[in-house]
Formats: sequence, C-alpha cells, structure tokens
Amino acid sequence: MKERLNAIKESALNEIKKVTDLEKLEELRVKFLGKKGEITQVLRGMKDLSKEERPIIGKIANEVREVIEDEIEKLKLDLKEKMQKERLIAERIDISMPGKEKIIGHRHPLISVMEELENVFMNMGFSVVQGPEIETVYNNFDALNSPENHPSRDLSDTFYITDDILLRTHTSPVQIRVMKQVKPPLRIVSAGRTFRFDDVDDTHSPMFHQFEGLVIDKNITMANLKDTIYKFVREIFGEDMKVRFRPHYFPFTEPSAEVDVSCFKCKGKGCPACNGTGWSMEILGCGMVHPKVLKNCGIDPEVYSGFAFGLGVDRIAMVKYGINNIRLLFENDMRFLEQF
Ligand code: PHE
Repeated sequence: MKERLNAIKESALNEIKKVTDLEKLEELRVKFLGKKGEITQVLRGMKDLSKEERPIIGKIANEVREVIEDEIEKLKLDLKEKMQKERLIAERIDISMPGKEKIIGHRHPLISVMEELENVFMNMGFSVVQGPEIETVYNNFDALNSPENHPSRDLSDTFYITDDILLRTHTSPVQIRVMKQVKPPLRIVSAGRTFRFDDVDDTHSPMFHQFEGLVIDKNITMANLKDTIYKFVREIFGEDMKVRFRPHYFPFTEPSAEVDVSCFKCKGKGCPACNGTGWSMEILGCGMVHPKVLKNCGIDPEVYSGFAFGLGVDRIAMVKYGINNIRLLFENDMRFLEQF
C-alpha cells in the first residue's frame, strides 16, 4: 500500500508538471484527490489492514495528499498570474494614440435664420406659434378672402390632396387658426414650410419657407406695420440697410405692400448682383388685415384692426449670406453647409 501511495504521488507530480491550463489542473485534482479519486480508493482498502499498520498508512496517505494539494495550489496561482498577464498585454490601450474625432454638426443656415427671426420678434413681445403644413382649402384661401377664381387657386399652382385639403401655399392660414382661437389683442409669428407648383430656378423651389406675423389690437395702423418692418430689417441685416415699400395686392390685406431691402453686395449703389438697381429681390408681403378676414374669424373690424406680413425665409437667408442659388439650401452638400 505504501508503494501504491508513492506511485500515485510520483505520477500525480509528473502529470501536474505538464499542465498548462486551469481546466486540466482541475481534472487532475478530481482524478487524484476527488471522492472517487485514486487516494480515496487506496484509503478504502485500509479496513483490511492491521491496527498497527493503519495509522502509519493513514499518515503516509495524508502526506501524499498534502504534497499533491500543495503542488496543485501552487500551479493554480502560477497559471492565474500568467493568464492575467496575457490578458493585460492583449487588452493594452495605447493612450498616446490620437482619438477618433467626432463630427459635431451645426444649424442649417435656414434654421439659424428662422431662430434669429423668432428671437427678434419675441423681443418685440410676439409669441411663436406653429401651424400644419397640410391645410384646408378654406383656411388657405376662402377665410383669407381669396376669390373663387383667384389664379393662385389653380390646379397648376397648388398641390391639392383632395378638393378640400392641400399643402399650404403660404403661412397666412396660421393667421386664421390663431384669430379663431385667441381673442385680441394678439401678436404672433409662425415659421414653417410652404409649397407651390413652381419650377426650380435660382430663386424658386416648389418647397420653401415662410415666416408669418400678425398683430391685432385696437388702433393698429400702417405706421405700426412700417415701424415693425424697419426694426426687424435693421436687427437682421444691420443699421445701414434701406427698406422700400411698393404698393401691391393681396386679397387678405388692404392696403397691401411688398418690401425690398437694399442689395446686400453693393448696399444700394447698383452692381451686377442686383442688375444695377441697388435693390435685392422682394423679401416680404404685408398689409393691414382685410375687414372681411377679421369678420370671418369673429373679430369686429369696427373695434379692432391689425397688420400682417409674410416673408420668404429662404430669400432672407440668401440675402443675408450672399447665396445666389436657392437649390444650395436644399441639396445638403456638406461643402456648402460647412461654410455656415
Ligand atoms: N401670404 C403672402 C404670400 O405668400 C404674404 C403676405 C402675408 C402678405 C401676410 C400680406 C400679409 O405672398
């Protein structure tokens, strides 16, 4: 039995030496020291030994077990340490490497202009409201006093969804929505997309952006309208910008006007960009709200009056940034957008 135990020790130590991973080591532990292991099996035979022999063999068996246990424990620690070192090397991070640069976006020039406009008018006490891009024909035309046969109602000018629903051709229907909901006095602006059946050229696009303003109160006059327009033009374009009102016609305002600002390039002297006129393209339409429109919204025109304006945001952006082609605003070419 003594030989048997020594042989087990020898073969255990031999096998342990060759082990290179923890799994294999555990297998060996079970094989030699486990409940069904070799040493246990030897110890089962002790019942056949004499009283004198039993403690001696028992002692040897314990010694062998301890030696094997120690050896396994030692190797276990070595293997763990080795594995940790390997992991540290494999997962090493070179903190001196340059990082991956994130591309940080910024506002599209149109959004900047809209926010700037909203801020200018909020500072004048206006509230910012929103209206839907899909509108009723009634809000877009009828309530705004546009006659049945007005050319802008034509199928070739407007995107109809059904006979009664369309893509709004301007932001003016927001006026109707607000006047029907809020009692005067009121001061609102509203920015958003608008749609017309236009062929694309340097200054036209079937989808474009407008910014609407509406003021209703007692004793509002054309002087209030002009003052507001002058103030906003100076805030947006600078003090030296000249403003020109030209008489015009809109069904929903009376009197009505279109507004030009001086050419951004030559500041009014006349240059190729403005065809020598000194004036940029028209940037907004405006006027005193038509009494019929007030009536349509349940507001008494004998008591209240007001003004409204609608400006082309794309055109403001073009004049402000010296952009000569409206397509650039919608093509999302990074080389263009990065300049703002
Ligand atoms: N809705 C008009 C347009 O699209 C602009 C406008 C708005 C004119 C408000 C007068 C008053 O051309």
